[in-house]
Amino acid sequence: MSGNLATVSYIGATILFILSLGGLSNPETSRRGNLYGMIGMTIAVLATVFGPRVTAAGYPWIIGAMVAGGAIGLYAAKVVKMTQMPELVALMHSLVGLAACLVGFASYIDTSAPLTGAEKTIHELEIYIGILIGAVTFSGSLIAFGKLNGKIGGAPLLLPARHWLNLIGLLVVIWFGGKFIAAHSISDGMTPLIIMTVIALLFGIHMVMAIGGADMPVVVSMLNSYSGWAAAATGFMLSNDLLIVVGALVGSSGAILSYIMCKAMNRHFISVIAGGFGTGGGAPAAPKGEAAAPAGEVVPVSATETAELLKEAKSVIIVPGYGMAVAQAQHTVYEITKHLREKGVNIRFGIHPVAGRMPGHMNVLLAEAKVPYDIVLEMDELNDDFPATDVAMVIGANDIVNPAAQDDPTSPIAGMPVLEVWKAKTSIVMKRSMASGYAGVDNPLFYKENNRMLFGDAKKMLDEVLVALKS
Ligand code: TAP
Repeated sequence: MSGNLATVSYIGATILFILSLGGLSNPETSRRGNLYGMIGMTIAVLATVFGPRVTAAGYPWIIGAMVAGGAIGLYAAKVVKMTQMPELVALMHSLVGLAACLVGFASYIDTSAPLTGAEKTIHELEIYIGILIGAVTFSGSLIAFGKLNGKIGGAPLLLPARHWLNLIGLLVVIWFGGKFIAAHSISDGMTPLIIMTVIALLFGIHMVMAIGGADMPVVVSMLNSYSGWAAAATGFMLSNDLLIVVGALVGSSGAILSYIMCKAMNRHFISVIAGGFGTGGGAPAAPKGEAAAPAGEVVPVSATETAELLKEAKSVIIVPGYGMAVAQAQHTVYEITKHLREKGVNIRFGIHPVAGRMPGHMNVLLAEAKVPYDIVLEMDELNDDFPATDVAMVIGANDIVNPAAQDDPTSPIAGMPVLEVWKAKTSIVMKRSMASGYAGVDNPLFYKENNRMLFGDAKKMLDEVLVALKS
């Protein structure tokens, strides 16, 4: 493939990636967005492999790597459950970071096209910064992976003088950066490069370990952004324009997502990154997934009683959370929605920006179950409607409906906006036990007078509710 054709292909792929991002911003166009992305990536890979910079001697290596990588990707896509998607994404981000580090070291020791003067300095800067971002992304994403799949506890690890440690780390990295650029030989430059890499790896671990449970969404989107910048840095090191553009697209869209997440959580971005949120005392906290000490009386209800309440209701708001994803209850939710709509009930869904374990988690599940988009509303769009609602049905959600976020300034989730389900005439919380949610804090909603608890697996309970509704 000639250089010109490769350039034209790169421009075509870039346009497709921009269209893809545009499509992914709305559930109705997201399939098309995915398709654009897939076509763009195919063109990008073909234009790179058959482009002027790859010689025939490289083909066996490239084909071998593509077969191995493709097989692992295909296997992971087949076996991963919907609830494991966030951790898979975190793992993928770590691979982008690792790739940036490896490409950085490879570019540094590659002597096939020696550079001199300003060009050499710029290239070394690209390598240093690329490895720095890559290493932070790699180790940070691995810790995020551990936190998301529960292998590492959600509680923040707060080292004494952690901000000073970060600052000293940064100064040391800058100092070694000077040594690296000034080095006269590869062996001289290798020591500062390796020291910086180790510091960056430790920084990535420290940064994500210091994040409290409920603030993980910000970190996940931030690492998404970092992985984009790591890819862009790799593009600079390899002088690959497409990688620079695509990396910048991912990096900036991840940064925008992080900003949206911070707004949704009512957090300051810098404070989340510096760590320390999710650390307060406040309401009796239980380890994630374990029952808190009882803080009042709860009123359990049966599936039949729930169906009775729904039959009498004129307006219903459903608030889905992570438990709906675990139970895979979305299809039964749709059946119940269809049934109640046929009976003339005004039924809508309230989606919290951080419900579930990844941005848009609930929207994806509801779209899969064919719930109409026009009754799926953002938290801000219907939070004021709860007082005029007969039944608020919480399906496997916990932190996102916790009134302590508003009432208890010492709570780890204080200030986070929540869906005010307790303002409805009756709220029904569907979950298996009194266990806390992701943030590991008790939920005073369970003890409110107008709240009912429907204990059990959400899918099983909703199946029973549906039968009772139809009887
Ligand atoms: P959570 O607060 O985690 O609560 C989910 C609840 O679902 C749990 O209390 C659990 O209680 C229940 N549950 C689990 N399996 C169930 C099943 N099979 N049937 C019925 N209930 C089940 O979830 P949420 O309210 O969606 O809030 C999301 C949390 O995750 C926030 O703290 C958020 O910050 C965090 N987070 C979000 C993201 C993104 S980007 N969305 C990323 C990382 C972390 P039982 O065990 O008693 O059943």
